[in-house]
Amino acid sequence: MKKVITYGTFDLFHQGHYNLLKRAKELGDWLIVGVTTDNFDLARGKMNTCDNMMDRIEAVRNTGLADQIIIEEYKGQKIDDIQKYGVDIFAIGSDWTGYFDYLKEYCQVVYLPRTEGISSTILREGRPAISLGIIGTGDIAGRFVPESKFVNSIPITAAYDPASEVCAGFCRKFEIPMAAGSLDELYQNCSAVYIASTPSTHYEYAKSALEAGKHVLCESPFVFKRSEAEALYEIAESKNLVLMVALKTAYCPAFGHLVTLLKSGAIGEVVEVSASIGGQMNEQACFPLLPIFKLLGTEYRDLNFYTKIENGIDIYTKALFRYDSAVALFQLGLGAKSEGNLVISGTKGYAYIPAPWWKTDYYEIRYEDPDQNKKYFYPFAGEGLRYEIKEFVSAILADGHSYSKIAKKENLAMAQVQEAYLKGTHLFKL
Ligand code: CTP
Repeated sequence: MKKVITYGTFDLFHQGHYNLLKRAKELGDWLIVGVTTDNFDLARGKMNTCDNMMDRIEAVRNTGLADQIIIEEYKGQKIDDIQKYGVDIFAIGSDWTGYFDYLKEYCQVVYLPRTEGISSTILREGRPAISLGIIGTGDIAGRFVPESKFVNSIPITAAYDPASEVCAGFCRKFEIPMAAGSLDELYQNCSAVYIASTPSTHYEYAKSALEAGKHVLCESPFVFKRSEAEALYEIAESKNLVLMVALKTAYCPAFGHLVTLLKSGAIGEVVEVSASIGGQMNEQACFPLLPIFKLLGTEYRDLNFYTKIENGIDIYTKALFRYDSAVALFQLGLGAKSEGNLVISGTKGYAYIPAPWWKTDYYEIRYEDPDQNKKYFYPFAGEGLRYEIKEFVSAILADGHSYSKIAKKENLAMAQVQEAYLKGTHLFKL
């Protein structure tokens, strides 16, 4: 029996996929089809898949052409599969010509003609899109635009910045169709807004965008008062709009898994979260606050700050949280050199996340017995902003249930901490 194998994502299953499977089947007696897992696609930077793995498998099954369906979940798997299933022919579309020649060592490799004029990419482009307007055209917006290209359904249609010259230059550079002269003009040309302006202006911009009926992705730090955060959520909820905070650590694969791993008891009960990072309170504090609130909750008993200010700039701040059965601390500032890592101590072991832990692709879980130690590796593509952009798109497109990687109560608590610091509550100057 001649066995043929082929692989694909098979997103938004189309005639080109069908023709390919049919041609592959005709090459032998038994057709194995490998369908990529969602995680594998994410790991190789394919962020734009619309159908989930089960739907994609179902579409392949419905053709009646596959004798066996397998999932493809890691790089290098093709060689393993060919050997494991005793495959005679590896077949793939001609868009891959030459790329899989390395498999000739294991079986015959056939590049089949591709069907012209159709692809998942073309179909995705034809789907409803969220037109995005950007407010604030500084550095972070400049990193955001190229990252948004990796996520489908979110073309950037306009940008606004009160510095109109800067805005015009930004739009030229990134080929954004419109440099809006006012917020109203921006809102007329988008259905969602990314706020990347100076943090002190976030509240006013987010409020005006939500009131104009736009979904909002707001850069971090979100706002500096709990009441402001509450007011924004109130408007978003009353208008059924998505309000998300763009704190990239929360959306990157490594951090998400770290939290679920620790929540499942990998290091026992968490007794201390200790994080350090550079920068100032009104810029970077949200990063260490994220693991603290994720792992210990937002109901801390008290919070003390110790801060050193030079020429009006907080060059060093230590914050100490007391919980019922744990402590959390973070340190930030450029005026005190330190390792910049994140350490989470539990009753059975600890997690060590080296700098730059806020954009990590790696961490370790360590125990008293070093044989039990485990290292975890993850993808972290580009600037890492594409993960939050994808979540924003999914939240808007979700019919009904959508889950926010940073909970409302966590965003409220972050604003509360910023407010306490600014008011000088339990703050000791060094
Ligand atoms: N294929 C084909 N003809 C097309 C589209 C895809 O023969 N018009 C083949 C590919 O060459 C591959 C298989 O179908 O062997 C699965 O391709 P996949 O990458 O899942 O589909 P695409 O439509 O090419 O997806 P994308 O646009 O995301 O690259």
